Amino acid sequence: MSTRRHALALLAASPFLASCGARGPDPAAGWRAPGAGEADPRRFALAHAILAPSPHNTQSWEVAFDGASGMTLFCDLGRRLPFTDPIDRQITIGCGAFLELYRLAASSLGYAAEIAIFPEGEPAPRLDARPVAHVALLPQANSAPDPLFPHIAARRTNRNVYDERIPDDALLLRATSVTGGFPGAVQWTSALERVAALRDLVWRAFDRELRTRGAQEETYRWLRFGRGQVAERRDGLALEGPAIGVIKSLGMLDEEDFLDPHSFANQSAAKDWRRKAESAPAFVWLSSANDAPATRLGAGVAYARLNLAATALGLAMHPWSQALQEYGEMADLYAEAKRVLEAEDRTVQMLARVGYAEPVPASARRDAGDFVRA
Ligand SMILES: Cc1cc2nc3c(=O)[nH]c(=O)nc-3n(C[C@H](O)[C@H](O)[C@H](O)COP(=O)(O)O)c2cc1C
Repeated sequence: MSTRRHALALLAASPFLASCGARGPDPAAGWRAPGAGEADPRRFALAHAILAPSPHNTQSWEVAFDGASGMTLFCDLGRRLPFTDPIDRQITIGCGAFLELYRLAASSLGYAAEIAIFPEGEPAPRLDARPVAHVALLPQANSAPDPLFPHIAARRTNRNVYDERIPDDALLLRATSVTGGFPGAVQWTSALERVAALRDLVWRAFDRELRTRGAQEETYRWLRFGRGQVAERRDGLALEGPAIGVIKSLGMLDEEDFLDPHSFANQSAAKDWRRKAESAPAFVWLSSANDAPATRLGAGVAYARLNLAATALGLAMHPWSQALQEYGEMADLYAEAKRVLEAEDRTVQMLARVGYAEPVPASARRDAGDFVRA
């Protein structure tokens, strides 16, 4: 997925401002005291679930409430990434992350979440209009909140350049040992040689995507330029900060420019992203023996938990998904990723760098109510 894209070079360099004042509603409002004042535990849980990571910040979730305790999660099918994620694997991972945050928030109120996944059958080959999951919240006496719950609002995807400091193995072991019953493997490396191979691979995959028109066109649709557009749309990848105005006024942020791998914007973004890749001190990855939709959801649960555990431990994380994407132009790098990760006969569900970095501001979210089906 997702993010990478040269535009994200600008994104990372451009702080996302906490308040948009006169320019529209605060796109990061959802991160402050999510669900405060909600009497319905489902709405409290929803306010947390929408803070989940999703590829390109697509937020492709829709919910319907039923009875006093039920919630059905659907994929918002128009919010998928058909070029870079043609089989909806990453979108499904984002749904798994949503479900886990919903469950964690319910646990903080003393509810257990009874989750039935794909209750009307597993979709194939892509997600469809059928439900992704049905969740019933059941009051549970003497339950304790999941210890990852308090970290939901502090979790970020951190795309900064990372410090040289290498997270120690004990810390990585702790971060990767909370994966919520994911039926796959969660592994990491901070070994110099393997990290070097992965830095080089994620960089080349980034560069490949930069040169793949269909992927760039797709990313362009998810870019949000400037505070006004971010505040209005409250999704996607924000390009903000003083540099954006200058760059835009130079005519360097129109679509053709974005699609041209040789444009100044793309060249400088590529340089910036290469620096980020080369700063990675360690990588974590999730892999599974099969790639069934239920396994993808499980990978989303595991990734959300991993990202929250990393947050709790003071570690920054940033997925680099380009090399895992299932489109023709990426096929050789996809095969290389599997070789480097020793996962030839498996599906690599997520690959992320992990380490220490300056904190980043929260990304945009739509209002929780916008996710509820009318
Ligand atoms: C399946 C999946 C793949 C992702 N791939 C990338 C990626 O390749 N590059 C990137 O910068 N972020 C990636 N992300 C992170 C999202 O872009 C990020 O979650 C989203 O922009 C919202 O930001 P937040 O995580 O800080 O809330 C991915 C997230 C998910 C769930």
